[in-house]
Amino acid sequence: MKTIIEPFRIKVVEPIRMTTREERTRLIRDAGYNPFRLKAEDVLIDLLTDSGTGAMSTHQWAGVMEGDESYAGARSFFRFEAAVKGVFGHTHVIPTHQGRASERLLCRAVVKPGDVIPGNTHFDTTRANIEDSRAEALDIPIPEARDSQNLHPFKGNIDLGNLEACLEAHKGKVPFVLITVTNNSGGGQPVSMANLKGARALCDRFHVPLLLDAARFAENAYFIKLREEGYADKSPREIAREMFALTDGAMMSMKKDAFGNIGGVVSLNSDEWAERTRTLLILTEGFITYGGLAGRDLEALAIGIDEILDEQYLHYRIASTAYVGKHLDACGVPLLKPFGGHAVYLDGRRFCDHLGDEQLPGWALSVALYEHVGVRACEIGNVMFGRQDAVTGAWQWPALDLVRLAIPRRVYTQSHMDYVIEGIDELYRKRKTIRGLRFVERPAVLPHFTATFALI
Ligand code: F0G
Repeated sequence: MKTIIEPFRIKVVEPIRMTTREERTRLIRDAGYNPFRLKAEDVLIDLLTDSGTGAMSTHQWAGVMEGDESYAGARSFFRFEAAVKGVFGHTHVIPTHQGRASERLLCRAVVKPGDVIPGNTHFDTTRANIEDSRAEALDIPIPEARDSQNLHPFKGNIDLGNLEACLEAHKGKVPFVLITVTNNSGGGQPVSMANLKGARALCDRFHVPLLLDAARFAENAYFIKLREEGYADKSPREIAREMFALTDGAMMSMKKDAFGNIGGVVSLNSDEWAERTRTLLILTEGFITYGGLAGRDLEALAIGIDEILDEQYLHYRIASTAYVGKHLDACGVPLLKPFGGHAVYLDGRRFCDHLGDEQLPGWALSVALYEHVGVRACEIGNVMFGRQDAVTGAWQWPALDLVRLAIPRRVYTQSHMDYVIEGIDELYRKRKTIRGLRFVERPAVLPHFTATFALI
């Protein structure tokens, strides 16, 4: 059969609400032209993020009832610990309430001012936490990653030549190397096993730990199965284990590839780092066996991390994301290629080629998409990563100005996606009507969440 079906049936439904174009024009204006400031109930199809927005399975909901809410030593923690160890394989498993809490704890525990942390492309909260420790977050993706049309199968790879130079230049100043799988900010692109092995060899030579930001490790493992020689006959679990076995630790937002609505983890081999992290955990997250989560969350995550490695699910996941990409591509819509695992990325600059960088084309596209069909997407481009020189006021824009259509796990059906495709196709045909935007208020840190804008 060529048809790829959703490998689940629907047991509980949540109504979604249609709005009129007039309503949406008013709602987005009142939200300061920032889709993050919209009320979710005013959004028809929400592709803002795949984080925490997935649907839990019957097994997970049953696990919720099994949750042990004891303050210390809860049964649910031991289930969680065993499930994480079963995939990650590190010695210490430290629960946190989400990915950025893991980042903050680890940065506080081991990063010093003046340190440098190289990676393929740090996610924005990771970068912010590293910079908050007065260290440098250095992105060194392979050069192919900067070209939105390059079909390299592992565009998430770190540039090993640059990594070597960086480790040489900053000896004693690199507490760890952090590779993000899949590379979210770089377009949801996978990292190959060969690249991880290359990074491991360099880290060994320079005696620097290698960590993974494992938010979407299962999607990465499945891409390795599909695209890397020698892995076609291995299971996603075997591949994931092999990935983690190359590392000294990992941080994970379990709101993605653990089917959690909330949750995170720090997983480490180093006793010393784990000790420091746990001490900080108690200060701000909670006791070491719950880390800011309820027992029921730990239980759901323990089940989720096993479910995500189901090959049938991953097949559907990657194929259904590609379905959106292929259909948009057939309409001529400019996209980042190859398509990501959790999202399809529109190329803001080419979609709105009548707008200059300072008119924030990607952001303007995300606003227009909401107005046109009630679909909420997320700009990962000029607003998120643009930097203004404090002295000259000149802007430095990122290599790519993307609009991400992130697909929540097990939430929307193919007809929802057909609606999204049709809406974007229509908008593309009248793209010249999309108006540019300028900042009204721009917070210095993570501006996209709360900035406000005006139409030009
Ligand atoms: N690392 C990666 C690769 C991420 O994509 C995210 C979150 C985080 C860390 C932080 O985790 O949200 O649990 O604190 N990404 C979400 C997104 C927000 O929309 O891509 P968090």
